[in-house]
Amino acid sequence: MNELDNLVEAARAEFAQAAAPADLENAKARYLGKAGRITELMKGMAALSVDEKKSRGAAINLAKQAIEGALTMRRQSLADAELEAQLKAEALDVSLPGRQRGAGGLHPVSLTLERIEAIFGSMGFEVAEGPEIESDWFNFTALNTPEDHPARSMHDTFYVEGGSAKAPNLLRTHTSPMQIRHAVQHVKHHRSALDAGQGMPEIRVIAPGRTYRVDSDATHSPMFHQCEGLWIGENVSFKDLKVVFTDFCRTFFENDDLVLRFRPSFFPFTEPSAEIDIQFPSGPLAGRWLEVAGSGQVHPNVVRNMGLDPERYIGFAFGMGPDRLTMLRYGVNDLRLFFDGDIRFLSQFR
Ligand code: FA5
Ligand code: MG
Repeated sequence: MNELDNLVEAARAEFAQAAAPADLENAKARYLGKAGRITELMKGMAALSVDEKKSRGAAINLAKQAIEGALTMRRQSLADAELEAQLKAEALDVSLPGRQRGAGGLHPVSLTLERIEAIFGSMGFEVAEGPEIESDWFNFTALNTPEDHPARSMHDTFYVEGGSAKAPNLLRTHTSPMQIRHAVQHVKHHRSALDAGQGMPEIRVIAPGRTYRVDSDATHSPMFHQCEGLWIGENVSFKDLKVVFTDFCRTFFENDDLVLRFRPSFFPFTEPSAEIDIQFPSGPLAGRWLEVAGSGQVHPNVVRNMGLDPERYIGFAFGMGPDRLTMLRYGVNDLRLFFDGDIRFLSQFR
């Protein structure tokens, strides 16, 4: 073996001994680096004749290529070994049991809304939905609450873009705008029969949804739910309101002895008006009253804004708080728990 062959062998041996990529790079520098053995040999050619340079240069180049080849192979085998080690370390134990994917459930207020829809559905009420961003007209004016009416101050809310400068759009403060929206559609649908004096089928609808006010304590939330109810016909009285709402509550709470209180009150869009209170039937708050709805006989001005003749059509409306009903049903004493999103609270209703 000549001197160059020995050099190649020595390099191969050193590369083979390198246990980690860093060792290998150090070994590479000793042969191929700036001060490496191959570079030295190249420099040593300066004194040779042209012919000698040719043959010597070719031989050195061959040796260099052999060393580079050995280096590439060793790099690859070190990388392979590292990958292998990593795969071994991360081995999956396919016999481990899987992570539990907990069963989901409906939010307690959603359970209440489903219940409300089912019970009123059984009494022949349709379900309607409407926008949460509402115009001043539907939220207030059409409901007999003109711009300067003091009742507006109880409905402090968020005003948003759109509408006019004098009457901007707002986040609806109650579901009552749905009384007008739904009735107007209903009347439009039966316009020709009405014009011909034939009358129309009764309006019987509930409208659940989100509502907004600047409100926050244990029984008031800035975002809350309401469910509007409206029954308009030729002979629908305040007595019907009491029967329907009492029936609903007794079914909802599965308690035929449940006590309700119709407390005289005021709303611009009903006359007469009443707030409806329910007594906590059991639990730590047993005996205490909680207001769950506002209600009353629909005001003639509102009937007119529905496109109907108040001399002929009459009925009642109510707006209840499904969040409050949920509190009563499950004995929860702080409304805010419903909107905190704490899984420890919510999972109790699964
Ligand atoms: C109204 O909003 C009337 N629109 C109800 C009505 C409809 C009267 C139709 C007549 C005819 P009131 O502001 O009282 O009324 O609210 C009705 C119910 O919504 C309350 O009884 C209560 O259960 C619920 N509620 C009101 N504000 C909040 C709040 N901030 N958080 C949770 N529930 C609320
Ligand atoms: Mg009220």
